[in-house]
Amino acid sequence: MAESPQSEIPAEYKNGAVEFLGCKIDLSLRPLIPRPETEFWTRHAIADLARRGRSAGRVLDLFAGSGCVGIATAKNLPAAAVDFGDIDAAAVEQIKINLKINRLSGERARVFQTDIFENIPPGESYDAILANPPYVAAERIREVQRSVLDWEPRRALFGGADGLGIIEKFLRRADDFLRPGGIIYMEFDTFQKISIIKMLKGLSYGSFEFHKDQFQKWRFIRIKK
Ligand SMILES: C[S@@+](CC[C@H](N)C(=O)[O-])C[C@H]1O[C@@H](n2cnc3c(N)ncnc32)[C@H](O)[C@@H]1O
Repeated sequence: MAESPQSEIPAEYKNGAVEFLGCKIDLSLRPLIPRPETEFWTRHAIADLARRGRSAGRVLDLFAGSGCVGIATAKNLPAAAVDFGDIDAAAVEQIKINLKINRLSGERARVFQTDIFENIPPGESYDAILANPPYVAAERIREVQRSVLDWEPRRALFGGADGLGIIEKFLRRADDFLRPGGIIYMEFDTFQKISIIKMLKGLSYGSFEFHKDQFQKWRFIRIKK
């Protein structure tokens, strides 16, 4: 958050919570405000997992922030177990608050403070990894809304000069944490599609497909191991 914000506090922070796929998501520790585009692909991912018979699987919500993606997944797939990872100590606390509110606990929901996969237990493997990494290009900062810059955590937004730094690190390691046939669902910025294709050509995933969001912009990718 900037030292002296020039814009009004976002309504979501003022209200203290939002709804995300029917789950109450507390925002009292000011994680990234969940976006409708993220809700859109999370709904798609949940339906896809159910359709593919993976609804009882192990899921990782990486770059979890408020925990909205993984909490909605756990609530909608009652037999799934979901791990959450975020580098930020406040996000980790926020996820724990939201797990309590949504009555998720124990082995069904574990939280790790981690730099990408660093503190995910070695040998852990997942049927699905859901990821909304920080992907805004620092060089496009002028296009970011004033209130976002004033109020939302910078670390949740920016992914280096071209926004691809964390995405690349993530994709290089994620394969090792996927079970055979496992799937990654990852959000990105619409103009990053070509760069992501180039990146994936150098990696050994089985297949991938791009999807648009509800506003007809390329927004998420589904990658199969
Ligand atoms: C775009 S936000 C997504 C938050 C939430 N999943 C959502 O969709 O609303 C990205 C999150 O990644 C976290 N993050 C940034 N760098 C990270 C890293 N190197 N390893 C793990 N988490 C990181 C930030 O703290 C932030 O919570």
